[in-house]
Amino acid sequence: MDQLAFKVSSLSKKYTIPEKQISVLQDIDFQIPVNQWITITGQSGCGKTTLLRLLGTLDEPDRGTIECFGEEITKMNTNQKAKLRRNKLGFIFQSYQLLPELNALENIMLPGRLTQGDMKTIKNRALDLMKTLEIENRIHHRPAELSGGEQQRVAIARALMNKPDIILADEPTGNLDTKNSTGIMKILEDLKIKEQKTILMVTHNINLTDYADKSYHIEGGSIIPI
Ligand SMILES: Nc1ncnc2c1ncn2[C@@H]1O[C@H](COP(=O)(O)OP(=O)(O)O)[C@@H](O)[C@H]1O
Ligand SMILES: [Mg+2]
Repeated sequence: MDQLAFKVSSLSKKYTIPEKQISVLQDIDFQIPVNQWITITGQSGCGKTTLLRLLGTLDEPDRGTIECFGEEITKMNTNQKAKLRRNKLGFIFQSYQLLPELNALENIMLPGRLTQGDMKTIKNRALDLMKTLEIENRIHHRPAELSGGEQQRVAIARALMNKPDIILADEPTGNLDTKNSTGIMKILEDLKIKEQKTILMVTHNINLTDYADKSYHIEGGSIIPI
């Protein structure tokens, strides 16, 4: 049997706000095999970001289990979760989330600085990534001095810094025009094909399911294969 990057079983999540509970995900089951691209679609507010945060160990479910490469992340302590995020997962967001006071190269190097690696190796890897993503002429630019497409490339390079096995992408083209969106999709496709990455992308844009090996839809708290 193929190895699983994620195995999600009976996952439920609700938020409690004053005098009210919002049930977002109810008894969700699905799996992500290694080296597959899975896309999850659904309308705004259906729980896509919630699901991604749970898989990324940034939040905890109310019920159910999540296994990442066979290890139950819901049982991990804070240190184990941080290590998983640092070494195995690469996050890409709609709003890029770059640090405004750092230049492109420094932003990309940041996750490397959380490891034991030496500075020169980290810098060279960041420069290599900038070359691959065709932003090598933007080394000293700060985020505000970059276009949206360039900022997202910097964010992708940062996500790849520590050679993650899995890319978690939350509306990665949500702020981009069609040309830049296609560019980002091609980058993700290359990562899957040439570097055997596993990709989980969530988006409200149903047109982006074309790139996926398999797609799901979230509606009314349930996840349905499409
Ligand atoms: N921290 C939170 N506290 C309370 N409600 C939240 C919180 N985060 C998200 N929600 C609610 O949960 C639902 C799902 O949100 P989200 O996962 O962000 O949806 P999506 O990413 O699909 O747009 C929404 O109704 C949202 O308002
Ligand atoms: Mg969202």
